[in-house]
Amino acid sequence: MLALVREVSPALGRCELTHLERLPIDPARAADQHRDYTRALQTLGCTLEWLPALPEYPDSVFIEDTAVVLDAIAVVTRPGASSRRGETPSVAAALERHRRVVHIAAPGSLDGGDVLHVDRTLYVGTSARTNAQGIAELERLLQPHGQRVRATALQGCLHLKSAVSFIPPDTVLLNPAWVDPTVFAGLRVVAVDEREPYAANTLTIGGTTLISAAYPRTRQRVEAAGVRTQALDVGELHKAEGALTCMSLLLE
Ligand code: GLY
Repeated sequence: MLALVREVSPALGRCELTHLERLPIDPARAADQHRDYTRALQTLGCTLEWLPALPEYPDSVFIEDTAVVLDAIAVVTRPGASSRRGETPSVAAALERHRRVVHIAAPGSLDGGDVLHVDRTLYVGTSARTNAQGIAELERLLQPHGQRVRATALQGCLHLKSAVSFIPPDTVLLNPAWVDPTVFAGLRVVAVDEREPYAANTLTIGGTTLISAAYPRTRQRVEAAGVRTQALDVGELHKAEGALTCMSLLLE
């Protein structure tokens, strides 16, 4: 497994915020937490590929939003926030070494954080960042690859993957206040603890599910469902409306 990652911008404090109040962010602390995150990826078997730093792009550590990577093809997105569109050329250049690369074109917009891949279905959040043209474009690009695209409503959070994440082979962890659990019929549904609304974003690699240390009650629920977990402190990145999946692009 290869993980594309990008270091934290010193301007992280000027990041986009949609549902959170702006709090002071310590970029050095965020960088330390990000370093621990990348070490955890390595421990779980990932080889890291560091993309060039983009210090002038506050959100550039959240590389997930810039592409959707499948086995055969990579789709470079057109992020919904115009402040983030300059993040994509270096991602496209990196992905071209590993995949055939195609692009979401204007007026489509799509953030990778809105794309939840479960087997042959891509659930795509109809968030403020991802528009109908972006979803239609993704569907057109992926249809030859046997992937089904399913537009999925969400409310109260930035991205679909703020509301739900997939824990292979058969489980979704979700916040039922933000996404309708019946969308995931056929999968086992575990709900976050209601005191931890942001806890649904987890990242599973090689049978271990990384979960933010900020959400111990939800972690207990996930463990009780028979899932092996590892907690990581990413609290400074949460202030930037980021979470675990946002900070890497994984390639098998
Ligand atoms: N701060 C994360 C984002 O808005 O893209």
